[in-house]
Amino acid sequence: MVKNSFLKEKIDLKSPNKNITPVTTSIGSDGKLSIGGCSIEELVEKYDSPLYILDEITLRNSCRAYKKALQKYYPGESLPIYASKANSSVFMSNLISSEGLGLDAVSEGELLTALKGGVPNEKIVFHGNNKSDKEIEFAVRNNIKVIVDNDFDLDRLEKISNSFNHDLEIMIRFTPGIECHTHEYIRTGSFDSKFGFGIEYLNTLFTKISNTKHLKLKGLHAHIGSQIFELEPHKDLGEIMVNVIVEAQKFGHNIEELNVGGGLGIKYIESDDPPSIDEWVKTVSNSVVKACKKNNLDFPTLMCEPGRSIVSTAGITIYKIGAFKEIPGVRTYLSVDGGMSDNPRPITYQSNYSACLVSNPLNISSKNKYTIAGKHCESGDVLFKEIELADCKTGDLICVFGTGAYNNSMSSNYNRIPRPAALLVYDGEAEIIQMRESPLDLLKYDVLPDRFIKQN
Ligand code: LLP
Repeated sequence: MVKNSFLKEKIDLKSPNKNITPVTTSIGSDGKLSIGGCSIEELVEKYDSPLYILDEITLRNSCRAYKKALQKYYPGESLPIYASKANSSVFMSNLISSEGLGLDAVSEGELLTALKGGVPNEKIVFHGNNKSDKEIEFAVRNNIKVIVDNDFDLDRLEKISNSFNHDLEIMIRFTPGIECHTHEYIRTGSFDSKFGFGIEYLNTLFTKISNTKHLKLKGLHAHIGSQIFELEPHKDLGEIMVNVIVEAQKFGHNIEELNVGGGLGIKYIESDDPPSIDEWVKTVSNSVVKACKKNNLDFPTLMCEPGRSIVSTAGITIYKIGAFKEIPGVRTYLSVDGGMSDNPRPITYQSNYSACLVSNPLNISSKNKYTIAGKHCESGDVLFKEIELADCKTGDLICVFGTGAYNNSMSSNYNRIPRPAALLVYDGEAEIIQMRESPLDLLKYDVLPDRFIKQN
């Protein structure tokens, strides 16, 4: 008998990143899965599959955990800033802003989404290693703080501030040279990174900024990577950043804001054991406080930029099982109605997830091993290489946990497969937050040149 023991684990309400499932996950008297008080089977009957679902309580608990911990451990001002690349939508922007968090955007699209969702412009920061002129102007016109990533950014901001003839506050991003243990594609703080200024260039940069008429260096930013379970790199980061503030003072810059980026990992599978939000914030805060005291510095405003640890555990994806293919002695493929277009993480980073059958979440039945494949024309479109599931058949539903971050936001239309709908669940009610695309929607931007129409 196989049991999905992760569904029996005690739920940590205060730090959702330590759970595999949303905090409202329950198993009804009928033995079936429900989230946010909603029966998953009923939601699929009404909204079809595949389906992204976000649990409001899990989302709010994560936001509050960051706010609360910063207030508890950091004696200065603080602001958690949601990294919207994890899951950007008008709804997410609205929820984030209702919780009093700021938002990090990396394109005009993410900026517009944040503004449309009601995030106040003074709480938005604008990142990116290759911002377009249009994007920079858009940010400046909307009083959104730009995080300068390179000289190209700096030169354009200098020109804009001169043309407006007024001061412009900026932050700079640098690479602190910290290595952490995560997938190399999502490691960003080491010397060999496309993001930010090298730490060895900072003195030149400070002089350059001092020589501008209107640029005011207000803050420092660094981000060392994502899905990190160790606390040590962030402890080191706090200290390194404070040392940079001290260095900047020698060039006449009074840095008031310190943004340590995001990176706290979440529990995707049972062997994952990330620190809690409280522990992470405590580590970062203590390290900044200690370094400030050592250098006799006023406490800067402390900012952090969590993405995954805010939204990932709140999200699940529901798929319907279609075809089975048994290769005797090798494996049994079970194919679902989505895959790499709604979740590109397994094929990109070999990421692992946990899943269960909606009708038998605790997996109480005989032991079956399956390979869960997506429906795309690509052999690597496999969501689970090997997973134990209860007896299942075509038409049954599978719930994949931990898909709130970097799934919808990294989705594609490969094979012209429309994106799923997304729902928000709360207290037994489900509301649409993203409409399901249709194949016809995907034709919207196709253009057949006139001469081809004539030919046919
Ligand atoms: N701040 C900056 C500047 C970032 O580049 C990122 C993530 C974050 C904050 C948020 O990091 P988080 O708290 O989510 O770890 N697509 C990859 C993750 C890429 C992360 C990119 N930057 C994945 O699916 O694992």
